[in-house]
This record gives sequence, structure tokens and C-alpha cells, in this order.
Amino acid sequence: MDGRQSALEGLAMNPSLWKGKRVFVTGHTGFKGGWLCLWLKKLGAEVTGYALPPASNPSLFSVTCVQDGMHSLIGDVADRQRLASAMAEAKPDVVIHMAAQALVRYSYRHPVETYATNVMGTVHLLEAVRHCDSVCSVLVVTSDKCYENRERKIGYREDEAMGGFDPYSNSKGCAELVVAAYRQSFFAAQGRVALATARAGNVIGGGDWSDDRLIPDMVRAFHAGETVCIRNPDAVRPWQHVFEALHGYLLLLENMMENPTAFSQAWNFGPEDADTRDVAWIVKRFVAHWSADQGGADWRIERDAGNLHEAHTLRLDCSKARHELNWRPALDFGLALQWIADWYRCYYSNKDVLALSQQQLDVFQEMVTADGEHRMVKTA
Ligand SMILES: NC(=O)c1ccc[n+]([C@@H]2O[C@H](COP(=O)([O-])OP(=O)(O)OC[C@H]3O[C@@H](n4cnc5c(N)ncnc54)[C@H](O)[C@@H]3O)[C@@H](O)[C@H]2O)c1
Repeated sequence: MDGRQSALEGLAMNPSLWKGKRVFVTGHTGFKGGWLCLWLKKLGAEVTGYALPPASNPSLFSVTCVQDGMHSLIGDVADRQRLASAMAEAKPDVVIHMAAQALVRYSYRHPVETYATNVMGTVHLLEAVRHCDSVCSVLVVTSDKCYENRERKIGYREDEAMGGFDPYSNSKGCAELVVAAYRQSFFAAQGRVALATARAGNVIGGGDWSDDRLIPDMVRAFHAGETVCIRNPDAVRPWQHVFEALHGYLLLLENMMENPTAFSQAWNFGPEDADTRDVAWIVKRFVAHWSADQGGADWRIERDAGNLHEAHTLRLDCSKARHELNWRPALDFGLALQWIADWYRCYYSNKDVLALSQQQLDVFQEMVTADGEHRMVKTA
């Protein structure tokens, strides 16, 4: 694997902080949660996962054996009692809530399920935290789509209005409001639990086989020797490699562990402005990477006949994470696309995809770790 960058100024994670840390992750059978658990295990954390069974076959969870070396529980966040007992039994120091119905188009077909999982699931999670004395830090993962989208060209900042046109986006805005209410009503005065939210842009990476997502749609089509149909070639999204968002989450939690009150807020994590690209740009680059090795990758535009509304332009202003956490993207975006094509190629040619996943994580971790030197920017 070449093209690595040197450890970048100001991106220092402190891997030793995670050793032996007890971490409760919801959504570990999904795309981001699976990568997060692989990373946390590498860091020496004791991980418990709570989620529904993987929604796709194949899945990152199954092909990289995410459940090995952790405690994996299958359960619904709608089941308040079971979630609370799972957390009580795990006695975590840190909770990372990622379980969600995470698809916009599915949310149009299943709005009730989407709100039940994303809003009441968050309420149940926070109730479990209230009654679990071991927990010190909680990160609730919402989305860049939580903002009231005004289709403007500049990025949304953390203090802007919540909104969301479709049930998924709106449920993430609601989850943000739930967290704010719990922070004010139950956690702030008591001071035991640091509670933050993370609003990341569209993440891409190896191991995603979800429906109606750009990279999985391309991979499925190209692998089957078909032309992929692109619905919204001009849609602009804050794309980033999944490791970038996870790095933001871990760095934020490290800061929360050191200084709970200062970091109990909402945080955006997205690409540099120049990497906030339209769909057609991503497709052309990914097609080039895929074709270079395997040929047979083609695409055509087929506008959405169902006419479901999806935001056209979505940008994030990530200056707060940049200035207060010293976080910024570490991976060249062209290299990120190469890594993704490499990952799926490895999987489809029956090579050792767990080894490649570990290798990609190792290279990335090296980029964001300055020899264990932790840069704490904000102090009490
Ligand atoms: N993928 C992205 O581009 C992106 C962007 C911004 C935010 N997010 C957010 O990040 C989180 C993870 O997203 P992802 O891409 O990994 O999604 P995913 O669909 O791959 O994974 C979702 C996870 O949530 C679990 N889950 C769903 N409903 C559940 C329920 N009722 N009870 C228990 N577990 C349940 C699933 O089992 C799975 O483990 C979500 O909160 C999502 O909204 C994702």
C-alpha cells in the first residue's frame, strides 16, 4: 500500500488512552460501527456491541469477523429493557451510539420505523446511560442531514437550525434535540457524563453493501458486469473516507475524557471544502480506479422516476473541529477512492480482506498519531 502521508501536524490521537477502556457501541453490525469496532479492538479496548443482525449479505461484519475479540449482542434499540440491561452488564466507560435506520429512501417507505429507531432509540440509549453509573462519556452519532437544508453554497455550522426534509434527515435533527434536552435536564448539572453529538458527512469505504448508496451501487453493478444508473449526478455531498469520521469521533471522545464539560457539544466532521464533490466527480474517479484493474465499469444517468426529494447541495463547516480538536481529514481523497476499490477487489478475488482492513487501519492510524504525543488543545 503506497501513497501514505506522514503524520500530520495536529492530528494526534492518543492510542494508549483506549487500552482497557470499556466501550459500548450500538450499531456494530453496520458499516461504520463495524470499522469502529475493528479499530477499537486494535487499540486494546474492551468492546461490547449492540445491534440488529447485519442488514446485507455480504456485510463488513461477517467478512471481517467483527464479533471476534469483542462481546457482540443482537438486540433492538426499541427494546428499552434489553438495551438497559445490556449496558448495565457491560459497565462501559464510554458509549458510542451509532445504531440507526440510516437510509433516506428507505425512510420514505418506513417513516414510523425510522423515527422509532432514530428518535426513541436515542431516548432509550440515554435512559440506559442515566441508570448506568460507570459511564463517563457518550457520543451520539447523528448526521450532516440534521440541519434545515437551505440549498446554500456555504457549509452549515453547529449552531444552525435543525430540520430535515425527509423522515431520515428529520429524525436525525430530532435526535439532536433529544440529546440537547437530556444534556440540559439530566447530565449537565450532575457532571458525571460528558455528552456530545457528531454530525459527519457522507462516509465511504470498503465493506458497505447498503442499498441506495453510491459506492455500494457501483460495486454491485460493476461486479455483476452491469452499467450503474446514477440518479443525481449533480448532487453535492461532503464525502469522506469512513476512517476520517471515526478519527473525529475518537479524538472528540479523548478530549471529553480529559475535559467533560468543554467538549459536551455538537461537532461537524467533514471534508476540506475542495473535496465536497458532486456525485459525477466521485463516479468518474471510482470508475477509473475500478477499470484500471478489472475493466468493465460504466455508468449512465437515470434521473429519479419516483421523484423522491433529496437535498441537492449539502456542505459542512468543520472549522470548530479543526480549531478546537485539531481534527482535519488526513487521507488524500484520491487515495481514499483507491483504498476503497482495493478493498472490494480484495474481497471479490477471495483474498484476505481482514488482513487488508487491518493494514488500511494501521496506515491510517499512523497518519493520525504523532508517536503517542497527544495534543490537547483545550484545557479546563
Ligand atoms: N453512512 C453515512 O454516510 C453516514 C453519514 C452520516 C451519519 N451516519 C450515521 O452513522 C451511523 C452508522 O451508519 P452506517 O452507515 O454504519 O449505517 P448501517 O445501516 O450500515 O448500520 C446501522 C446499524 O444500526 C443498527 N440498527 C438499525 N436499526 C436498529 C435497531 N432498531 N436496533 C438496534 N440496532 C439497529 C444496524 O443493525 C446496524 O448495525 C448512523 O447513525 C447513521 O445515521 C452515516
